[in-house]
Amino acid sequence: MSEESKKEEIRIGVFICHCGANIAGFLDVVEVTEYAKTLPHVVYAEHNLYTCAEDGLSAIRNAIKEHKLNRVVVASCTPRTHEPLFRQACEEAGLNKYLFEFANIRDQCSWVHMKEWDKATRKAKDLVRMSVARAALLEPQEEIKLDIYPAALVIGGGVSGMTAALSIANQGFETHLVEKEPELGGMLRSLNRIFPENRRADEVLEELKERIGKASNLTVHLSTSIKEVDGYYGNFQVTLDMGGQIETLKIGTIIVATGASEMEPVGLYSYGESPQIVTQRQLEMGLKEGKYKNLENVVMIQCVGSRGERVSYCSRVCCATAIKNALVIKEIFPEARVEILHNDIEVYGSRYEANYQRAREAGVLFKKYDPQARPQVLVQDGEITVRFHHQLMNRDMEYHPDLVVLSTPLVMNQEGIDVAKMLRVPLGSDQFMFEAHVKLRPVDFATDGLYLCGTCHGPADITESISQANAAASHAVNPMIQRVVQTEAITAYVNEEACVGCGFCVWACPFAAPAMVTREDGKMVSRINEALCKGCGTCAAGCPSYAITTRHFKNDQALSMIHAAFPQPSRGGEEFDPQIIAFTCNWCSYAGADLAGVSRFQYPPNIRIIRFMCSGRIDPMFVFEAFRSNADAVLVSGCHIGDCHYIDANHRTRERFQAMQEIIAEMGIEPERLRLAWISASEGEKFAQTIREMVEEVRKLGPLDKSKLVVKA
Ligand code: FES
Repeated sequence: MSEESKKEEIRIGVFICHCGANIAGFLDVVEVTEYAKTLPHVVYAEHNLYTCAEDGLSAIRNAIKEHKLNRVVVASCTPRTHEPLFRQACEEAGLNKYLFEFANIRDQCSWVHMKEWDKATRKAKDLVRMSVARAALLEPQEEIKLDIYPAALVIGGGVSGMTAALSIANQGFETHLVEKEPELGGMLRSLNRIFPENRRADEVLEELKERIGKASNLTVHLSTSIKEVDGYYGNFQVTLDMGGQIETLKIGTIIVATGASEMEPVGLYSYGESPQIVTQRQLEMGLKEGKYKNLENVVMIQCVGSRGERVSYCSRVCCATAIKNALVIKEIFPEARVEILHNDIEVYGSRYEANYQRAREAGVLFKKYDPQARPQVLVQDGEITVRFHHQLMNRDMEYHPDLVVLSTPLVMNQEGIDVAKMLRVPLGSDQFMFEAHVKLRPVDFATDGLYLCGTCHGPADITESISQANAAASHAVNPMIQRVVQTEAITAYVNEEACVGCGFCVWACPFAAPAMVTREDGKMVSRINEALCKGCGTCAAGCPSYAITTRHFKNDQALSMIHAAFPQPSRGGEEFDPQIIAFTCNWCSYAGADLAGVSRFQYPPNIRIIRFMCSGRIDPMFVFEAFRSNADAVLVSGCHIGDCHYIDANHRTRERFQAMQEIIAEMGIEPERLRLAWISASEGEKFAQTIREMVEEVRKLGPLDKSKLVVKA
């Protein structure tokens, strides 16, 4: 705590919410409130029907003033949805919003222990006690103010990049559009028609180019690559390489629109063995150039390379593309027999559905193959044979088409991978770029000032790419309009006296926020650029000299919760009921626990959750302290590898977990007592099942023998 905070008397107010019957129907809210009044530093406690309603919020505001509260704890639903609201109420009453703390007694208590009134009530008391302990150590925080330079960079001159650049430029901001090729257009250049509107792709491209040519604030850099990006949100220095000619731009916000590429099906379905075996993109180019003089018998094969063949995902747009091209073929060659061999037709949206219907009416044949026995394409003496098993008719079939068209997925391209590395933005498990939040921030990266749109984010059609581009443009423009923005106060900082200059933080940070500097007295220390720091805390968790701290997620705050979770060791023998502490990240596993609650998945009430922004913040010290503080087992949980909201911070979690496992094995502690689980926000059942399994396993082991918690020399 700061010296100033240490001097003031801590006065905590606790507000327990009934949430109608959602909490009060499953545990004793009055008893929890009376219990809260007995906790250290609590000078006021009340319960409200709905704490988030105006009545409840004004009760908080009034109590802050009347009882001179300098910390507030609300025990109700989840901080993931309601923390901003309660923080605002605190601010309105003159209290710094970082002096507010949540206890999640609905999603992670009343809703998941609906038939265990006594145990749920006891757990709610524990959760309130943990939050009060942490609240006492909270400190006011100042959010960082950043100047935003009013210029934007768009990387990638395809349809989404062009749309985004036009949108920004038309709003009056200096805009730079960078394209590695000598021409704008990206994949649009190789398309024939754009469905569902049935417009010629050339026409759309020419229109866009014309508008770009007329835009006054827009500079197009063709045959240009990004050499380097330095700086931070609002103040990036971007170095362009224009065929050896170097130029540096000052940029406020950056949109990535590097697109995707069609997968080349080398080694699949005899691709490359005959010019009559082509991909959908090659077919489109052929149709556009009038290459096909006569087509009588065309077979299209869907899901080539996708859905488990080379990549696991469905590429979303291939079915619509195949239907579009089948319709064009039928338009040019009405007598042609066009068959689409598929593993489920996926056309989304009513306009694509209508096209599917039109194709059937036009005589295009759709035949479902068995995904376990995909079609075979053979080439012998220039003749093509397609064999497949018709799943619905349960019959083997054979064709001799004059053209085979392979529908392959969109895949991430090398330019996208290079740009992602340079900007330190994450790629998902499918290698596409990964947004900050799929629903709440779908066109933002987790790093402020960086946005994405188009197919670098995942397979999308032209309409979707344009919508995303406009959304990304408005997000990129917003801070430029404001000129000054506030960023999260949750950042890391270094105690330079304790720093030993090892450089671990520089290696561990996913955002390149720390740098080693030599002070005037010759000491080499780490310094963190707070404009770059996103507050994941992975540097703090691994710092060997505990010189780094994360604001609002400090060691003493975490330890206070660990110590408050289980004041007594669990009882042995028949009465043994395991005590488990779970450390979760905010974005996935805590959200997964919330989803278990919203879904009413029931699990045993033996677990107490402690939340960090990222699993990378989980210091091994916390785990061992949990064991020392009466936990019989510990769960470490975060986003799946590849899904961490702080790029790859959870790789450090995995490494630390392996090291901790080795240590507990050395100590002779059963490995079942320390578990790692990657749980996403959509895996509520997985979270519940993990807890059920852990409780069952630990129940068999009995209480932890704490005398083993000694590192042998
Ligand atoms: Fe979930 Fe990093 S944010 S593990």
